[in-house]
Amino acid sequence: MKKNHTILVVDDENGVRQSFNMVLKDVYNVLLADSGKQAIDIFTRNKVDLILLDILLPDTGGLDLLEKFKETDPNTEIIMVTAVNEIQTAVKAIKLGAYEYIIKPFVVDDVLIVIKRAMEKRSLVKEVAYLKDELERYHSFEKMVGKDENMRKIFELISIVSQSDGTVLIQGESGTGKELVARAIHNRGLRHEEPFVVINCAAIPATLMESKIFGHNRGAFTGATHTSIGKLEIGDKGTIFLDDIDSLDINMQAKLLRIIQEKEFERLGSTKVIKVDVRFVASSNKDLKDLISQEKFREDLYYRLAVFPIELPPLKERKGDISLLLNHFLQLNAKNTGKPPKRFSKEAVQILMEYDWPGNVRELQNLVERLFTITKGSVIHLKDISTFDIGKRGIKDMTLKQAVSTFEKNYISEILEKVNGNRKKAAERLGIHRNTLLSKTIELAPNTNK
Ligand SMILES: Nc1ncnc2c1ncn2[C@@H]1O[C@H](COP(=O)(O)OP(=O)(O)OP(=O)(O)O)[C@@H](O)[C@H]1O
Ligand SMILES: [Mg+2]
Repeated sequence: MKKNHTILVVDDENGVRQSFNMVLKDVYNVLLADSGKQAIDIFTRNKVDLILLDILLPDTGGLDLLEKFKETDPNTEIIMVTAVNEIQTAVKAIKLGAYEYIIKPFVVDDVLIVIKRAMEKRSLVKEVAYLKDELERYHSFEKMVGKDENMRKIFELISIVSQSDGTVLIQGESGTGKELVARAIHNRGLRHEEPFVVINCAAIPATLMESKIFGHNRGAFTGATHTSIGKLEIGDKGTIFLDDIDSLDINMQAKLLRIIQEKEFERLGSTKVIKVDVRFVASSNKDLKDLISQEKFREDLYYRLAVFPIELPPLKERKGDISLLLNHFLQLNAKNTGKPPKRFSKEAVQILMEYDWPGNVRELQNLVERLFTITKGSVIHLKDISTFDIGKRGIKDMTLKQAVSTFEKNYISEILEKVNGNRKKAAERLGIHRNTLLSKTIELAPNTNK
């Protein structure tokens, strides 16, 4: 059985230490200390989840020790071990932050139950911190779509990379889906049941970065009124996503390099070494090699990160995916709003496929959302898009003949829509013969999907 938690037993009586060890060793990693001094020493060097602490120790008072542990790491749970005549002190200990006390001689089952509850509380605290972190950002967890050859290769790469634990560097223009790829790697990977924690290097000010990543103890700096767990600790056992890593300042780059190599750090204002087991995935929309030559990015960090490099192509280089994405987001909008589905006319799709999408998938997604909301009918026509910059830009690139023909097609379909498809009425309003309209609508038909 894999042991996930570590318990430190502090007691000067060898018999007590050994009996705890016997009871716990099958389920937990157990560390033993026979004095306050040794306990602190072990505590600073190891990741300890819970401490069984004897109230009467020869060198340090149990309560002093309790305060010291809590100060160093408030998330470590402490259970006091007392004799019947020390219950007063045990009650005091609870007020000082101990989780519970058990009385010697103890009943094995009772001890195990108390420990289990304390551990559950601990993971709950961690989970709440994680959920809070996630809630600060909104995310769609939708699957990626793509049929372009390049994207298929990327999907394959994601499957392979997710089965390993090496660092991944995802590069690509803004809006190409870097975060989606990072999440896919996590979700399909070995750590999928553990947290996926985002460190947004572009959004967190440099002055706060260290405390966000490492956490801090109370009083570590002016304004640090309480102890706070950093993102690395929140993400323990999971994946840490270093978003927009190019924005990280050069000093933090050095610190990050050390963490990636050693997987250990200290909270600000603390000397206790915290070990974490995390996988790093980083993203950048800038060319990091370029930044290296300008001495804005550390070369050694780059090579640490790029164990598995993934390069996402811009949308204009995978035109085939445009219509797929348009439909994907239309369906998504219908599903999310509960409204009836809509589709694009063929001309609309054609124009959107010619557009070069500088904002990539995100720009496309936003456009579809706007069009889905404002278009009244079930078909989104070219004229609906023309009201936006992108449509106009599309038209600008047409020859006069194309532009006139596009206008004509749109105008005819608009009038037809107004008269509910009655060709006689439409011909009258357009001032043309019914046969002319007929020939024009035949020409129109394959394009409007009617
Ligand atoms: N292949 C895809 N299929 C479906 N949705 C996608 C795809 N690629 C990107 N998206 C969506 O596009 C939006 C932008 O993607 P994402 O946030 O991953 O981009 P990014 O590369 O991290 O951008 P930035 O550099 O601006 O942070 C998201 O809403 C995402 O869900
Ligand atoms: Mg991003």
